[in-house]
Amino acid sequence: MNTVFLNGDYLPAEQAKISVFDRGFLFGDGIYEVVPIYQRRLHRWALHLARLRRSLSAITLHCQLTDAELEQMVQQLLQRNQLENGSLYLQITRSGIAGQRDHFFTAGCDASVFAYVNPWPQALEGPERPALTAITVADQRWRRCDIKSVNLLPNVLARQQAREAGADEAILIRNGEALEGSSSNLYIVREGVLITPAEQSCMLSGITRAVILELAQRHNVPVELRPIAATELNDADEIWISSSLRELRRISQLDGRALAYDENRALYPKFARWFFADKLVD
Ligand code: PDD
Repeated sequence: MNTVFLNGDYLPAEQAKISVFDRGFLFGDGIYEVVPIYQRRLHRWALHLARLRRSLSAITLHCQLTDAELEQMVQQLLQRNQLENGSLYLQITRSGIAGQRDHFFTAGCDASVFAYVNPWPQALEGPERPALTAITVADQRWRRCDIKSVNLLPNVLARQQAREAGADEAILIRNGEALEGSSSNLYIVREGVLITPAEQSCMLSGITRAVILELAQRHNVPVELRPIAATELNDADEIWISSSLRELRRISQLDGRALAYDENRALYPKFARWFFADKLVD
Protein backbone atom coordinates (compact mmCIF):
# COMPACT_ATOMS: atom_id res chain seq x y z
CA MET A 1 0.00 0.00 0.00
CA ASN A 2 1.33 3.45 -0.89
CA THR A 3 2.15 5.59 2.12
CA VAL A 4 1.82 9.32 1.46
CA PHE A 5 2.74 12.38 3.50
CA LEU A 6 0.07 14.94 4.37
CA ASN A 7 0.63 17.80 6.80
CA GLY A 8 2.94 15.99 9.18
CA ASP A 9 1.40 12.51 8.95
CA TYR A 10 2.38 9.40 7.00
CA LEU A 11 -0.83 7.68 5.91
CA PRO A 12 -2.14 5.06 3.48
CA ALA A 13 -3.09 7.04 0.34
CA GLU A 14 -6.82 6.38 0.71
CA GLN A 15 -6.84 7.86 4.23
CA ALA A 16 -5.17 11.13 3.22
CA LYS A 17 -7.86 13.88 3.12
CA ILE A 18 -7.70 17.64 2.80
CA SER A 19 -10.32 20.29 3.48
CA VAL A 20 -12.64 21.25 0.63
CA PHE A 21 -11.71 24.84 1.57
CA ASP A 22 -8.06 24.28 0.74
CA ARG A 23 -7.24 27.02 -1.77
CA GLY A 24 -5.36 24.54 -3.92
CA PHE A 25 -8.70 22.79 -4.44
CA LEU A 26 -10.78 25.97 -4.83
CA PHE A 27 -8.39 28.18 -6.84
CA GLY A 28 -5.39 26.11 -7.92
CA ASP A 29 -3.56 28.29 -5.39
CA GLY A 30 -0.37 26.34 -4.85
CA ILE A 31 2.84 25.03 -6.34
CA TYR A 32 4.51 21.67 -6.86
CA GLU A 33 7.65 19.81 -7.79
CA VAL A 34 8.30 16.50 -9.51
CA VAL A 35 11.67 14.95 -8.73
CA PRO A 36 13.12 11.81 -10.32
CA ILE A 37 14.51 9.17 -7.96
CA TYR A 38 17.24 6.84 -9.18
CA GLN A 39 18.72 4.15 -6.96
CA ARG A 40 17.07 5.66 -3.88
CA ARG A 41 18.59 9.08 -4.60
CA LEU A 42 16.70 12.24 -5.40
CA HIS A 43 18.13 13.46 -8.70
CA ARG A 44 19.31 17.11 -8.51
CA TRP A 45 17.38 17.65 -5.29
CA ALA A 46 19.15 20.94 -4.56
CA LEU A 47 17.95 22.42 -7.87
CA HIS A 48 14.39 21.20 -7.32
CA LEU A 49 14.38 22.60 -3.80
CA ALA A 50 15.66 25.97 -5.02
CA ARG A 51 12.90 26.10 -7.65
CA LEU A 52 10.30 25.10 -5.04
CA ARG A 53 11.45 28.00 -2.83
CA ARG A 54 11.31 30.40 -5.82
CA SER A 55 7.76 29.27 -6.64
CA LEU A 56 6.67 29.64 -2.99
CA SER A 57 8.11 33.10 -2.77
CA ALA A 58 6.55 34.15 -6.12
CA ILE A 59 3.08 33.37 -4.75
CA THR A 60 3.97 34.63 -1.23
CA LEU A 61 3.23 31.29 0.38
CA HIS A 62 5.14 30.38 3.49
CA CYS A 63 5.89 26.69 4.07
CA GLN A 64 6.39 25.71 7.72
CA LEU A 65 8.92 23.01 6.81
CA THR A 66 12.62 23.84 6.46
CA ASP A 67 14.74 22.42 3.63
CA ALA A 68 16.16 19.83 6.03
CA GLU A 69 12.67 18.83 7.19
CA LEU A 70 11.44 18.51 3.60
CA GLU A 71 14.38 16.29 2.74
CA GLN A 72 13.87 14.18 5.86
CA MET A 73 10.20 13.77 4.99
CA VAL A 74 11.08 12.57 1.47
CA GLN A 75 13.65 10.11 2.84
CA GLN A 76 10.93 8.73 5.14
CA LEU A 77 8.62 8.29 2.15
CA LEU A 78 11.33 6.43 0.23
CA GLN A 79 11.93 4.15 3.18
CA ARG A 80 8.30 3.51 4.02
CA ASN A 81 7.50 2.70 0.38
CA GLN A 82 10.73 0.76 -0.25
CA LEU A 83 11.24 2.80 -3.41
CA GLU A 84 14.36 2.27 -5.55
CA ASN A 85 13.50 4.10 -8.77
CA GLY A 86 10.60 6.41 -9.41
CA SER A 87 9.49 9.95 -8.79
CA LEU A 88 8.43 12.22 -5.99
CA TYR A 89 5.41 14.52 -6.27
CA LEU A 90 5.51 17.33 -3.71
CA GLN A 91 2.68 19.86 -3.58
CA ILE A 92 2.25 22.87 -1.34
CA THR A 93 -1.06 24.70 -1.43
CA ARG A 94 -2.48 27.64 0.53
CA SER A 95 -4.75 25.92 2.99
CA GLY A 96 -7.43 28.60 3.30
CA ILE A 97 -10.06 29.13 5.98
CA ALA A 98 -12.94 26.74 6.74
CA GLY A 99 -16.26 28.00 5.37
CA GLN A 100 -14.71 30.81 3.31
CA ARG A 101 -14.08 31.23 -0.37
CA ASP A 102 -12.51 34.61 -1.03
CA HIS A 103 -10.15 35.43 -3.86
CA PHE A 104 -7.88 37.42 -1.55
CA PHE A 105 -5.80 35.64 1.03
CA THR A 106 -4.49 36.72 4.39
CA ALA A 107 -0.74 36.85 4.90
CA GLY A 108 0.54 34.00 7.03
CA CYS A 109 -2.16 31.63 5.78
CA ASP A 110 -0.96 28.07 6.49
CA ALA A 111 0.37 25.75 3.83
CA SER A 112 -0.92 22.22 3.11
CA VAL A 113 1.98 19.94 2.28
CA PHE A 114 1.28 16.74 0.38
CA ALA A 115 3.82 14.32 -1.06
CA TYR A 116 3.93 10.84 -2.48
CA VAL A 117 6.33 8.66 -4.40
CA ASN A 118 5.57 6.65 -7.49
CA PRO A 119 7.59 3.60 -8.54
CA TRP A 120 9.23 3.47 -11.95
CA PRO A 121 11.00 0.11 -12.10
CA GLN A 122 12.19 0.56 -15.71
CA ALA A 123 14.01 3.83 -14.91
CA LEU A 124 17.46 2.38 -15.50
CA GLU A 125 16.61 0.22 -18.51
CA GLY A 126 18.80 1.98 -21.05
CA PRO A 127 19.91 5.37 -22.34
CA GLU A 128 17.60 5.81 -25.34
CA ARG A 129 13.90 6.09 -24.70
CA PRO A 130 11.39 5.57 -27.54
CA ALA A 131 10.82 8.65 -29.70
CA LEU A 132 7.62 10.64 -29.19
CA THR A 133 5.20 12.45 -31.48
CA ALA A 134 3.95 16.00 -31.03
CA ILE A 135 1.55 18.57 -32.37
CA THR A 136 1.80 22.36 -32.16
CA VAL A 137 -0.98 24.25 -30.34
CA ALA A 138 -1.60 27.84 -29.32
CA ASP A 139 -0.27 28.66 -25.85
CA GLN A 140 -3.26 29.71 -23.73
CA ARG A 141 -1.36 30.06 -20.44
CA TRP A 142 -0.80 33.12 -18.29
CA ARG A 143 2.48 35.06 -18.24
CA ARG A 144 4.09 33.52 -15.15
CA CYS A 145 4.80 30.06 -16.46
CA ASP A 146 8.13 30.23 -14.61
CA ILE A 147 6.13 29.53 -11.42
CA LYS A 148 5.52 25.80 -11.07
CA SER A 149 1.88 26.33 -10.18
CA VAL A 150 -0.66 23.52 -9.73
CA ASN A 151 -2.98 25.67 -11.83
CA LEU A 152 -2.39 23.64 -14.99
CA LEU A 153 -5.67 23.84 -16.90
CA PRO A 154 -4.22 25.18 -20.18
CA ASN A 155 -1.44 22.57 -20.01
CA VAL A 156 -4.01 19.85 -19.36
CA LEU A 157 -6.17 20.96 -22.30
CA ALA A 158 -3.16 21.18 -24.62
CA ARG A 159 -2.05 17.71 -23.64
CA GLN A 160 -5.56 16.37 -24.13
CA GLN A 161 -5.64 17.98 -27.60
CA ALA A 162 -2.40 16.16 -28.40
CA ARG A 163 -3.78 12.88 -27.12
CA GLU A 164 -6.94 13.22 -29.18
CA ALA A 165 -4.76 13.86 -32.24
CA GLY A 166 -2.87 10.64 -31.45
CA ALA A 167 0.27 12.51 -30.30
CA ASP A 168 2.29 12.36 -27.09
CA GLU A 169 2.99 16.04 -26.47
CA ALA A 170 1.73 19.51 -27.42
CA ILE A 171 4.32 22.14 -28.28
CA LEU A 172 3.06 25.54 -27.20
CA ILE A 173 3.28 28.46 -29.63
CA ARG A 174 2.98 32.07 -28.49
CA ASN A 175 3.55 35.09 -30.74
CA GLY A 176 5.14 32.89 -33.40
CA GLU A 177 7.60 31.34 -30.94
CA ALA A 178 7.75 27.70 -29.83
CA LEU A 179 8.27 27.96 -26.07
CA GLU A 180 8.02 24.49 -24.55
CA GLY A 181 5.81 21.44 -24.33
CA SER A 182 2.67 21.15 -22.19
CA SER A 183 4.84 19.49 -19.52
CA SER A 184 8.36 19.57 -20.95
CA ASN A 185 11.06 21.88 -22.27
CA LEU A 186 11.87 22.16 -25.95
CA TYR A 187 15.10 21.97 -27.98
CA ILE A 188 15.97 21.92 -31.64
CA VAL A 189 19.27 21.02 -33.28
CA ARG A 190 20.49 22.84 -36.39
CA GLU A 191 23.84 22.03 -37.96
CA GLY A 192 25.26 20.64 -34.73
CA VAL A 193 24.05 23.55 -32.55
CA LEU A 194 21.66 22.85 -29.68
CA ILE A 195 19.02 25.58 -29.46
CA THR A 196 16.56 26.14 -26.61
CA PRO A 197 14.70 29.25 -25.44
CA ALA A 198 16.44 31.27 -22.73
CA GLU A 199 14.88 31.36 -19.25
CA GLN A 200 11.87 33.66 -19.24
CA SER A 201 8.57 34.17 -17.47
CA CYS A 202 6.57 32.47 -20.28
CA MET A 203 8.30 29.15 -19.74
CA LEU A 204 9.23 26.84 -16.87
CA SER A 205 12.93 26.61 -16.21
CA GLY A 206 13.21 22.82 -16.20
CA ILE A 207 15.71 21.03 -14.01
CA THR A 208 16.21 18.42 -16.75
CA ARG A 209 16.94 21.35 -19.09
CA ALA A 210 19.60 22.55 -16.65
CA VAL A 211 21.16 19.08 -16.75
CA ILE A 212 21.09 19.02 -20.58
CA LEU A 213 22.77 22.44 -20.73
CA GLU A 214 25.38 21.28 -18.23
CA LEU A 215 26.07 18.20 -20.39
CA ALA A 216 26.37 20.37 -23.50
CA GLN A 217 28.95 22.54 -21.77
CA ARG A 218 30.87 19.55 -20.41
CA HIS A 219 31.08 17.98 -23.87
CA ASN A 220 31.72 21.22 -25.79
CA VAL A 221 28.48 21.12 -27.77
CA PRO A 222 27.62 24.62 -29.02
CA VAL A 223 24.41 26.00 -27.51
CA GLU A 224 22.23 28.96 -28.45
CA LEU A 225 19.79 30.23 -25.81
CA ARG A 226 17.36 32.11 -28.00
CA PRO A 227 13.76 32.12 -29.19
CA ILE A 228 12.76 29.27 -31.50
CA ALA A 229 10.52 30.58 -34.26
CA ALA A 230 7.61 28.18 -34.79
CA THR A 231 8.65 27.98 -38.46
CA GLU A 232 12.07 26.64 -37.42
CA LEU A 233 10.39 23.45 -36.24
CA ASN A 234 9.75 22.61 -39.88
CA ASP A 235 13.37 22.44 -40.95
CA ALA A 236 15.17 21.57 -37.70
CA ASP A 237 17.57 18.61 -37.92
CA GLU A 238 16.25 17.32 -34.59
CA ILE A 239 13.55 18.24 -32.09
CA TRP A 240 13.76 17.09 -28.47
CA ILE A 241 11.79 17.57 -25.30
CA SER A 242 12.81 16.95 -21.69
CA SER A 243 11.24 16.65 -18.27
CA SER A 244 11.74 14.90 -14.96
CA LEU A 245 9.25 12.18 -15.87
CA ARG A 246 10.01 11.76 -19.55
CA GLU A 247 13.72 12.51 -19.32
CA LEU A 248 15.24 13.34 -22.72
CA ARG A 249 13.12 12.31 -25.71
CA ARG A 250 13.43 12.80 -29.43
CA ILE A 251 10.37 13.90 -31.39
CA SER A 252 9.94 11.75 -34.50
CA GLN A 253 6.73 13.23 -35.88
CA LEU A 254 5.35 16.76 -35.71
CA ASP A 255 1.80 17.68 -36.73
CA GLY A 256 1.51 14.31 -38.47
CA ARG A 257 4.71 14.76 -40.52
CA ALA A 258 7.61 12.34 -39.95
CA LEU A 259 10.89 14.13 -39.22
CA ALA A 260 13.96 12.99 -41.14
CA TYR A 261 16.55 11.59 -38.74
CA ASP A 262 20.10 10.50 -39.41
CA GLU A 263 21.20 8.49 -36.38
CA ASN A 264 24.89 8.72 -37.29
CA ARG A 265 24.92 12.51 -37.45
CA ALA A 266 22.34 13.24 -34.75
CA LEU A 267 23.23 14.72 -31.37
CA TYR A 268 20.40 12.92 -29.62
CA PRO A 269 22.05 9.48 -29.10
CA LYS A 270 25.09 11.15 -27.50
CA PHE A 271 22.99 13.23 -25.14
CA ALA A 272 20.86 10.19 -24.27
CA ARG A 273 24.04 8.33 -23.23
CA TRP A 274 25.46 11.28 -21.28
CA PHE A 275 22.14 11.82 -19.56
CA PHE A 276 21.91 8.16 -18.59
CA ALA A 277 25.43 8.23 -17.10
CA ASP A 278 24.61 11.46 -15.22
CA LYS A 279 21.58 10.02 -13.49
CA LEU A 280 23.63 7.17 -12.07
CA VAL A 281 26.23 9.41 -10.47
CA ASP A 282 24.32 12.48 -9.31
N1 PDD B 1 6.43 19.02 -15.59
N2 PDD B 1 7.74 22.81 -18.72
C1 PDD B 1 6.57 22.50 -18.14
C2 PDD B 1 5.37 23.30 -18.49
C3 PDD B 1 6.50 21.44 -17.22
O1 PDD B 1 5.32 21.15 -16.62
C4 PDD B 1 7.67 20.67 -16.95
C5 PDD B 1 7.67 19.51 -15.99
C6 PDD B 1 8.87 21.04 -17.58
C7 PDD B 1 10.16 20.29 -17.33
O2 PDD B 1 10.64 20.59 -16.04
P1 PDD B 1 11.55 19.53 -15.25
O3 PDD B 1 12.67 19.17 -16.16
O4 PDD B 1 12.02 20.27 -14.07
O5 PDD B 1 10.69 18.34 -14.93
C8 PDD B 1 8.87 22.11 -18.45
C9 PDD B 1 6.32 17.99 -14.60
C10 PDD B 1 7.20 16.81 -14.81
C11 PDD B 1 4.85 17.62 -14.43
O6 PDD B 1 4.06 18.55 -14.44
O7 PDD B 1 4.52 16.47 -14.24
